Amino acid sequence: MHISIITVIPDLLQGPLQHSIIGRAGKRGLLEIDVVDLREYGIGKHRQVDDYAYGGGAGMVMMPGPLMACIESLQAIRSYDEIIYMAPDGRLLDQPMANRLSLKGNLMILCGHYKGIDERIRQHVVTMEVSIGNYVLSGGELAAAVLVDAVGRLLPGVMNDETSALFDSFQDGLVAPPVYTRPARFRDWEVPSVLLSGNESAIEAWRYEQALARTRQRRPTMLQDE
Ligand code: ADE
Repeated sequence: MHISIITVIPDLLQGPLQHSIIGRAGKRGLLEIDVVDLREYGIGKHRQVDDYAYGGGAGMVMMPGPLMACIESLQAIRSYDEIIYMAPDGRLLDQPMANRLSLKGNLMILCGHYKGIDERIRQHVVTMEVSIGNYVLSGGELAAAVLVDAVGRLLPGVMNDETSALFDSFQDGLVAPPVYTRPARFRDWEVPSVLLSGNESAIEAWRYEQALARTRQRRPTMLQDE
């Protein structure tokens, strides 16, 4: 998969995408990410990318010209399955959306800043608008990093244990059951005995019951959706 991310603050994305699972995916050649500095397409000596909002009001708006020049230069290299704009009023990211996006070949992600991007780009160019939650971040970069992580870890070969993503919370419509590791007794706190029993079917049944109980308690709407 190839992901191009357009931003005015490329540095904000370098750290999160270089480490852990997503960093490994890059090194293994499974996920190629290019972070594109929108300022390179800015106008004039100051490489301007934003301007005052028509109609007045506080805050700048990202201009359509530099954005379009940047998008078209990327499209000249490859075609994109989706052009995603990270926005607080976009569709809420969830596991099914991450699953669907992980099946695509090339994604472009636009990170907004200031008051956001000119509406005409949203209307005519963007194919998908994604929010990572009902709160406002100071820019789309951290949201883009979240999206790339959620999608990138699902690509075949990215995880060490290929099956592990299948057992994540949300993948089977349930949150994950509790997990324990050594020691079996820590400060009087015991690991549930069934997990030490070696009885695989009993363990599987226990995990399922725990996941169901947790889902009922923490995400009851996930059960109602079915
Ligand atoms: N940009 C600003 N806030 C955001 C959010 N919650 N999700 C996605 N992009 C954003």
